[in-house]
Parts: sequence; structure tokens; C-alpha cells
Amino acid sequence: MILKQSYSTAWKSPSNIALVKYWGKFGRQFPSNPSISFTLSEAYSTLVMKISPADSLSCQLEFHGKRESAFEERILGFLDSIKDVYPWLERASVDMSSTNSFPHSAGIASSASAMSALALCLVDIDQQIQHQTWKDSDNFRQRSSEIARLASGSAARSVYPFLARWGISTISKKGSNDYADYAGEGIHSIFSNYKNSILILSSATKSVSSSAGHRLMKGNRFADERFKQANENLDQLLLAMCQGDMSSFIRIVEEEALTLHALMMTSNPSYILMEPQTIEAIRAIRAFREEKEIPVCFTLDAGPNIHMLYPASYSDQVDIWRDAVLRPLCEGGRIIEDHVGQGPQRITL
Ligand code: PMV
Repeated sequence: MILKQSYSTAWKSPSNIALVKYWGKFGRQFPSNPSISFTLSEAYSTLVMKISPADSLSCQLEFHGKRESAFEERILGFLDSIKDVYPWLERASVDMSSTNSFPHSAGIASSASAMSALALCLVDIDQQIQHQTWKDSDNFRQRSSEIARLASGSAARSVYPFLARWGISTISKKGSNDYADYAGEGIHSIFSNYKNSILILSSATKSVSSSAGHRLMKGNRFADERFKQANENLDQLLLAMCQGDMSSFIRIVEEEALTLHALMMTSNPSYILMEPQTIEAIRAIRAFREEKEIPVCFTLDAGPNIHMLYPASYSDQVDIWRDAVLRPLCEGGRIIEDHVGQGPQRITL
């Protein structure tokens, strides 16, 4: 199919933080276990995309106004890999201009927000090309989630507000490996106003990328047990979240974070992404929770930085303590204050 004219759109899409972690994949970006995440709000990417007719596929990307060749190459590789999905990409020049709300150098994963924004723009433009309108926004989200998954697994979850799950559960048989779904139905109201303080403990580039980490699960002797654990944790976490059972929520979320890092340590070759400050912050959070009986907990993504999670109703007490005890552990005192959010938005050009 050949493009006859140019098309453009723009989207703003948030990052997410997994409560049950996706770690290990197979086939065309299918997850080895189901996962679930809070959609964030303040950590987001914006993407303006223009697609024009051309002789072959090419792409240009400006990030905060500057050509970003490493990212450009990754996106070109991705666009090339989905020509079977969108044949019009065969002869298209794709011009993009992108920003991140959080510093690129902060060491927090930007792929979920950037890749979900990319997927939303592609699905939107395909809709314009096909003169289609989706029957309802759920179809649009589902399709965007599927395209986002092909770019970066965790990005599949970012297209929904609040809470999203991705991957078939071996227990409930619910969910799909192709795309994520909204999982916020019936969840206790305490979770709808939840905070996430992202403690930037180190912004150094990770020694092992997430893609390499997923691959290493293939030879990990604990892999099968892990996939079983994730399935059980997903079901138990959803139950805890529906019942407002904070102690089960905290136990599962922290177990998931520490299991993720235990899997890295037991990979072959083994590697460690936590830093001494990570352990120090974990100990401090646990001691504060016990002493004050405040339901604050931590999770980690594939890096050294802590995501501290707590109900917004405890903000006053937690934020004062955080600034006194945890901020000094952070690189340059840097903390990103985020909270559970409403999902992507189309930007009017
Ligand atoms: O989407 P990827 O390939 O960058 O993998 C992300 C994996 C974790 O962030 C560690 C967990 C998750 O479910 O988001």
C-alpha cells in the first residue's frame, strides 16, 4: 500500500511501575508470565509524528530539539519489523519530535512511555489512512497496547489509566499475551490515589540492559518456579487490591521487586543492579513502616532506583520523613514525585 498524502498526530503517554514484574519473554515479544502495573502521571513522554510518502522507509527523530541517532536507529529497526502489520511503512518517511518529562539521565526506564507514545501515534495514523474510527476507545487502546508490546513489553501496559495487566494467567486463564487490559475494576478506593516517589539513587547507565536480562531468563535454573510465583502473585495481589488488604499488597509488591533482582543475581553470568544506597533505602522504608504503622512499601524496576509507594492520605507524614531520611541517599538529592495517573492523552496540534 502506497501513501498518497502526509498524516500527522501527537500523543502524550506515561510510564508505569510494575507491581508484579514481567521478566522473561518468548516468540514475538510474548511475556513468560503475566504482570500488572500502576500507570504513572508525571513521568511521561510526548511524541509528535508526521508520516509522508517516500521511496523507502526512513525515520528522523529529534529529542528535546536535538537529533538522537541511537534512539533513531532503535525506532527504525522497530518500524522495519512491523511492516507486515502496517504495509504503508514500506514507503514512508517518519518524522518525529519527542520529549520526556523526566531527565533522560535519571536512570529510570523511559521505554514504556516513549514506546507507548510511538504506538499510539502509529495506530492513530493508521486509522486516518484507513478512514476508520474505532467503535469505542477500548478498541483503540487494545490495538495501541498490542503495537506497544512489539516495541517494548512493559509499554503495552502504559496505554490504560490507573492499573493495567498483561499476559495470560495460568490460574484464572484471564488476560492476553497480545495486549494489556484495564485492571482497575473493583479495586479498593485506597489505591486510586496512590503516590510513587522515585528515589534516584544512581543515574549511571545500567551494566546489563532489560533486553539482555529477559534473554538470561532462558538459562536461569529458577525460571519455572518464578513464572509459577508470578501467576500466584498476580491473582493474590488483585484479591488484596479489591479487599484493600494492605499487608498482603505490601508483602507481594516487595517480594516481586526482590525476586526480580534475585533473578539477576542468579543469572549466568550473574549481575547486580542494586547499589548500597538501594539496600539502605529498603531498610529505612521497612523500619519506618514498622515503627509508624504507615502502609508504605517499595518496588524496583530493572535498576538501582527505588519506587516508594504509599496512599496519598499519608503524604504529610511520609513526605517529611522521606525528605529527611531518604533524600540524602539520592544522587544530587533527586526524587521524582509521581502518582497513579489517567493514561495517555492525544495532543491537539
Ligand atoms: O519492557 P522492558 O523490556 O523494558 O522490560 C521491563 C521489565 C521490568 O521493568 C523490570 C518489569 C516490568 O514489568 O515493567
